[in-house]
Amino acid sequence: MNLSGRSFLKEFDFTPEEWTSLLDLAADLKRERREGTERQSLSGRTIALIFEKPSSRTRSSFEVAAFHQGAHTTYFDPSASHIRGKESIVDTALLFGRMFDAIEYRGYGQDTVEALAEYSGVPVWNGLTDEWHPTQTLADQLTIRERVTKPLNEVTIAYLGDARNNVGNSVLAGGALMGMDVRMVAPKDLQNTDEVVAQAREVAARTGARITLTDDVAEGVRDADVVYTDVWVSMGEPKEVWAERIDLLKGYQVNTELMRATGNPDAIAMHCLPAYHDRDTTVGEQVFQMTGMDALEITDEVFQTQRDVIFDQAENRMHTIKAVMVATLGRD
Ligand code: CP
Ligand code: NVA
Repeated sequence: MNLSGRSFLKEFDFTPEEWTSLLDLAADLKRERREGTERQSLSGRTIALIFEKPSSRTRSSFEVAAFHQGAHTTYFDPSASHIRGKESIVDTALLFGRMFDAIEYRGYGQDTVEALAEYSGVPVWNGLTDEWHPTQTLADQLTIRERVTKPLNEVTIAYLGDARNNVGNSVLAGGALMGMDVRMVAPKDLQNTDEVVAQAREVAARTGARITLTDDVAEGVRDADVVYTDVWVSMGEPKEVWAERIDLLKGYQVNTELMRATGNPDAIAMHCLPAYHDRDTTVGEQVFQMTGMDALEITDEVFQTQRDVIFDQAENRMHTIKAVMVATLGRD
């Protein structure tokens, strides 16, 4: 499978075969790292990392994976460059295309990452936009392959929470691509847009995926192998939405009772992280003071029981991001 020179912007840009080849490559790279047999295919390459929103996992994954593979990274946050302030995204793309061999972008609209790809002439990798989080999807699916003893097209995944956020869209798109039984379980106001659902259904018609959108938790999680959740308020949203969002989503919390409602004792819980599962964060404490809830999208009980799975997911960000870099930029 040749993905050389391609950008990695969203799941729907890839065929199921291309997507599977990235998962396979990530599994190989992970094994090689463990065995000490990894070969560097990015030596001498230069990579720009643009972050307009905060990150712990995605930034470390790009930096660590690049180092393993011999590439050099330069990190830009909004305060340390002219991006947007004095220089447009198009001009930044034109400049970085001449300096760097590839660009990673985390930030706001998908149109930004698309413009970087169009005008830079080098591979551009989406490290999260308002609409999509495709490197997360690869890590999630690698984790599912490792943890659930069935091929992906026999796996049932239920996503609970703000289904129309970046991770919700990506769970749906990635699940459609891999032929999974995908349940988006959310109140009607927080369901994926008609446009995203239509695209997912079009892909599902070819891959055999099943797509269900429901606001009924019991129906949505029944027989699930994977219960997935994400924060209820995403980066970039105003803090004024918290109260309304908690009100809408409190019935969709991943707790022990909900895990039992799957009817599957082997069901795993997944979370892209960071998670509000206790009061040990500034926001977690503020929300507790406001509402009395000591956890939001996932209880601490479920989080601790599933901690190994959830942190496998986090580690797999690095192996899968490495696969994206090697496949699109690597030299053999
Ligand atoms: N899951 C994820 O993208 O984490 P970061 O925000 O820490 O990069
Ligand atoms: N939906 C979350 C994902 C964080 C990885 C956000 O955008 O903040």
